[in-house]
Amino acid sequence: MPSEAVSWSGRAPGRVNLIGEHVDYLGGLVLPAAVNRFTEVSGHAAGEWSVESEVPGGLAYVRAIGEELGAEPQDVTVSSQVPPSAGISSSAALLVAVAVGLKPDMDGKTAALACQRAEQRATGVQVGVMDQFASALGRRGCALLLDCATLDYELVPFPDEVAIAVIDSGEHRNLADTPYNQRRREAESGDPKRMRHVQSEIARVRVFVEALRHRDFARMGQLLKESHRSLRDDFEVSTANVDAIVAGADAIDGCYGARIMGAGFGGSILALLDRPKTEQFVSSMHRPVLVCTTADGAYNPR
Ligand code: GLA
Repeated sequence: MPSEAVSWSGRAPGRVNLIGEHVDYLGGLVLPAAVNRFTEVSGHAAGEWSVESEVPGGLAYVRAIGEELGAEPQDVTVSSQVPPSAGISSSAALLVAVAVGLKPDMDGKTAALACQRAEQRATGVQVGVMDQFASALGRRGCALLLDCATLDYELVPFPDEVAIAVIDSGEHRNLADTPYNQRRREAESGDPKRMRHVQSEIARVRVFVEALRHRDFARMGQLLKESHRSLRDDFEVSTANVDAIVAGADAIDGCYGARIMGAGFGGSILALLDRPKTEQFVSSMHRPVLVCTTADGAYNPR
């Protein structure tokens, strides 16, 4: 490739969701946090869109966000520490990194909405705004309590003593091949079982935030366990394999609680841990575990 001058670059983090699953696209409350795994991109104007990336499908995302932002075609290079399919939203990190590179002065909320539309366009999956919002506007040392109806948000301090672990279920899937859109339609049409999850999950977000403010880690863990049962039984987005991993994680000393995280249908599991017991937890899990800390979003000053 000819060496051309780099005209822009951007960087954005992945995210975890502490609680508030499958409620963002219904205008519910969610509590994600940006985490310290980043995607970096650089690019320059070119005759057509092209992307150099280890991440499969990168071109569709880059082109979709570029077009949302009204950018000219670009030649883009991607380097990512956000493992694809690990459940910490590598796609949101890529979209937000391109957005901040192309439009660093944009308002973070507007950028998150553009990234959400780009993700929907690139994949056909009618995702909510949570992942892109967290990657854009998360803050180190904090979780982000987001009201998806108004996009008002509040930063809630997240204590250092609690470690955030993301366990890979080994069941990697492309969201477009899952019933994600079907679940969204069922919930939007008011299906009683799906609504029972949605209403109870939003109530759990509120209680979790109170527990977090009072540093009641045991209560936070219980709420994760309740969230998992609701996602398993009422929203039906878990798998037998994930249920077994969650049960295994819950049984390890130092784990406050665990649950399926993100869209589900496989994917990843979140566990909150007593920090000094992290190493022991990771070696007892016998599967890939990412231990994360909270980080600044791309549209927050570093
Ligand atoms: C995916 C979507 C989010 C959200 C979660 C489920 O991560 O991108 O918008 O709907 O699933 O909470």
